[in-house]
Amino acid sequence: MPQPYNEGDGPAVILLHGYPFNRSMWREQIDFLSARGCRAIAPNLLEMSDDLQLVADADAQESEWQRPAEAYRTFRTMVSMARDVSALMDELKIDQAVICGLSMGAYVAFEFVRLFPSRVRAFVLAGARAQGPDEDEKQSREQQARRILTEGMAFVADAMLSKVLAPRTLAENPAVVSRVREMILRTDPRGAAAAQRGMAARRDYSNDLCDIETPTLIIAGREDAVRKAEDAEFIRRGIRNSHLEIIDDAGHLMNMEQPEVVNRLLLSFMGEPDPA
Ligand code: MLT
Repeated sequence: MPQPYNEGDGPAVILLHGYPFNRSMWREQIDFLSARGCRAIAPNLLEMSDDLQLVADADAQESEWQRPAEAYRTFRTMVSMARDVSALMDELKIDQAVICGLSMGAYVAFEFVRLFPSRVRAFVLAGARAQGPDEDEKQSREQQARRILTEGMAFVADAMLSKVLAPRTLAENPAVVSRVREMILRTDPRGAAAAQRGMAARRDYSNDLCDIETPTLIIAGREDAVRKAEDAEFIRRGIRNSHLEIIDDAGHLMNMEQPEVVNRLLLSFMGEPDPA
């Protein structure tokens, strides 16, 4: 099981990746923040828990994920990921951190701040949505999970690239396009299916927003085709001590598409995490 990135010394920031990606989507933030007096940590959320031992053991049991009866039991909730993040903090002897989640990572962050509010120094939500899934979304996630378990990740990569990246990134930044494709293809299908089911079962976080006291930075890509601009606005209105930044020429994966902009925002927010 890969170790989380854990680099630098200073105030800790924990970066939670989206679906169906992994810790490597935060490479630029890890390098930048750890070189500037922060301890930057990024776990692989889909490979941390005992629930997913099957996934962690993928090499040894190569064909097992294709056995539907086995695979259909695999389930990875946002709560279990949040608990794993807390366990990781215990292991790394970190009491409190800035918790930064992108998309699925933001669902996990919402659970984390509810379960462990005193461990959150400040909160960053990127490409986030608070509302829970409706019936259509639940069904579509279950269909995706089943298809992933029988076909693997290639169709997901084909379908997602044009949605998660801004038109300019797709046209002008082949290195980012191929990194994103690689990340998706390297995701274990059982981990991806389990996360889809976990996201289908997630709570509606709308009513949590007014309880979040922590200073919060909300980041949205102006060209995000996965999240609507209203999703970020809704969160900004709900969390009283929050501030919204919209990033030009960026889609859902704004931290990979405009790393310099996101890095600067994170650094200044970490230095002074009170946007009010
Ligand atoms: C993500 O990037 O994590 C996904 O878009 C989350 C989702 O499917 O809601």
